[in-house]
Amino acid sequence: WVLILDFGSQYTQLIARRLRELNVYCEIHPFNTSPDEFRSQPPKGIILSGGPKSVYDPGAPALNMDYIEMGIPVLGICYGLQSLAHSINPSSVEKADKREFGRAKLNIDDRSDLFSGIYEESVVWMSHGDHIRELPYPYHIIAHTENAPVAAVKHDTKPIFGVQFHPEVAHTDQGSEILENFAINIAGCSGDWTAASFIETEIDEIRRRVGSEKVLCALSGGVDSTVVATLIHKAIGDQLECIFVDNGLLRKHEYENVLTTYREHLKLPVRGVNASDLFLKNLSGVIDPEEKRKIIGNTFIEVFEDAISAENNFKFLAQGTLYPDVIESVSFKGPSATIKSHHNVGGLPEKMKMELIEPVRELFKDEVRNVGRELGIPESFIGRHPFPGPGLGIRVIGELTKERLDLLREADDIFISSLRAHGLYDDVWQALAVLLPVQSVGVMGDERTYEFTVALRAVTSVDGMTADWAHLPYEFLSEVSNRIINEVRGINRTVYDISSKPPSTIEWE
Ligand code: XMP
Repeated sequence: WVLILDFGSQYTQLIARRLRELNVYCEIHPFNTSPDEFRSQPPKGIILSGGPKSVYDPGAPALNMDYIEMGIPVLGICYGLQSLAHSINPSSVEKADKREFGRAKLNIDDRSDLFSGIYEESVVWMSHGDHIRELPYPYHIIAHTENAPVAAVKHDTKPIFGVQFHPEVAHTDQGSEILENFAINIAGCSGDWTAASFIETEIDEIRRRVGSEKVLCALSGGVDSTVVATLIHKAIGDQLECIFVDNGLLRKHEYENVLTTYREHLKLPVRGVNASDLFLKNLSGVIDPEEKRKIIGNTFIEVFEDAISAENNFKFLAQGTLYPDVIESVSFKGPSATIKSHHNVGGLPEKMKMELIEPVRELFKDEVRNVGRELGIPESFIGRHPFPGPGLGIRVIGELTKERLDLLREADDIFISSLRAHGLYDDVWQALAVLLPVQSVGVMGDERTYEFTVALRAVTSVDGMTADWAHLPYEFLSEVSNRIINEVRGINRTVYDISSKPPSTIEWE
C-alpha cells in the first residue's frame, strides 16, 4: 500500500483517487503523523502531497525526515518536493514573487523509471509559487520545462523522486502513468486491490474483531448503511441486528419498499420501527432549519435507545462513514465553517457505550457502490440519489404538518417516477421537490384556487460539494408540472429551481 502524507493541498484526495483507479490501496494521513504508526505494516511507497504554504511561512508544515530514512520509495509532489529539498538544504528553495499556474510541456532528461513511457513534451499541470533553485545533494534533474529548469528530480542512488507539477490532476496528460510508474514499477505495489479483495479482507477483519459479540446497525435506506449491513451480515450472519426507523419524513412508500428490499432481497435481519407520530409531535411549531435537524437527530437517538433498551447486549454499532468524512475530521487544516449540520447517528456510541465498526471508512462513494454491486445489492438500489437524514423535514419549508408532508410526498413521487419513466433519473445526481409556505391564486375550471407552490430541483454534481442545476428538457418539466397541478389537490403552481451551488445549496434548508 501507499502512504500519502497530507501537507494540506486541495488535490490530496485526487492523489488517492488516481491510485485507487490503478487498484493500488492507499491511505491519507496528516504530514505530522509519527512513522512509528506504520512500523507493523509499513507502506511500500510514500507520496508527499502538495500544500498551500511556502516553506518560508511561519508554522509551515515540515517533513519528518525519518520517513526518508525508512528506505521506502518516496515521491514528493510540489510542496512535498520543496519541503524535502528545504529539509536537506534550506537554501535550495527560492521564494517566488509570482505563481506559475497552468499547463507546461515536460522535457524529459531521464526516462528510465518515473518517466518510463512518458512522451516528450507531454503536458503537465503547474500550480506553485516557490520553486527549487539549487539542487539538494545528492539529487539530479530528470525533467525540465521552459520556465522550470527543475521540474523533476531524483536521488543519485535511492528511489526518491520529486516533481514540481501535479501528476494527480486531470490536466496532466499522463499523470496516471507517472503515478503507476511510481506505485507499481518503483514501489512494487501489486495493483490488485479490487472490490472483491476488499470484501474478502474486510470479512476476515470483522469476524476477528467481533468474535461472538453482537452488532447493531441503523439503516437509513441509503447506499452506505445498506452496503455496511450487507457486508457485516455476510461476515457474522445473525449476530447482526438492524433497525430501520420511519420518522414520518420519508418519501411516498419508502418505508415499505425499503423494508421489502432489506428483508426479501438482501435477507437482512431488520426490525422496522414506526415512530412518525413522535417525530411530528417533537417538530410541531418548529420553523428554523438547524432546530429541525437537532430535534430530528435527538428524536432518532431516543427512538433507537427505546427500541433496544430491553436487550442492550450489543457491543458494536455499525456505521456507514465514508473516507471524505474521515479525511475532513483528521485534516490539520481544521474544520471549515458549518453551513448545515448534517445529522447522522453521532452521539449514540458514547451514550450507549458501544464500539464503532466502520468498514467503509477508507472508501470513496463510487467504491462503496462497487462493493455493493459485488455483494449483489440490486442496481436500482445502488444508483439511488442521495437523501438527507432529516428527509422531507427540510423540504417542507417552515412548519411541518402531516398534511403538508403528504402534499410534498405526492408531488415528489410524480417528479421522481417521471424521471425514471423518461430515463432521466441516472442523468442527474439528485432530484427533489420542495413545498413552499407560499399560497398563490390560480384558476381551475371556473373556480378560483388559493393553494401552495412546489419547487422542483434537479442537480448534476460529482460529490455534492458543488452542483449545477440540471438542464432537463422543457417538455419533460411541462409534463411533470401539469401532472402535479392536476393530480395533487392543494398545489396550484410549480417552479423550477435554476440556481447553482455555490452560492445556493442543493437543499433549500
Ligand atoms: P446541501 O444542501 O448542503 O447538500 O448543498 C449537499 C448534500 O447533502 C445532503 N444534505 C444532508 N444530508 N443530513 C444529511 O444526511 C443533512 O442534514 C443534510 N443536509 C443536506 C443533501 O441532500 C445533498 O445531497
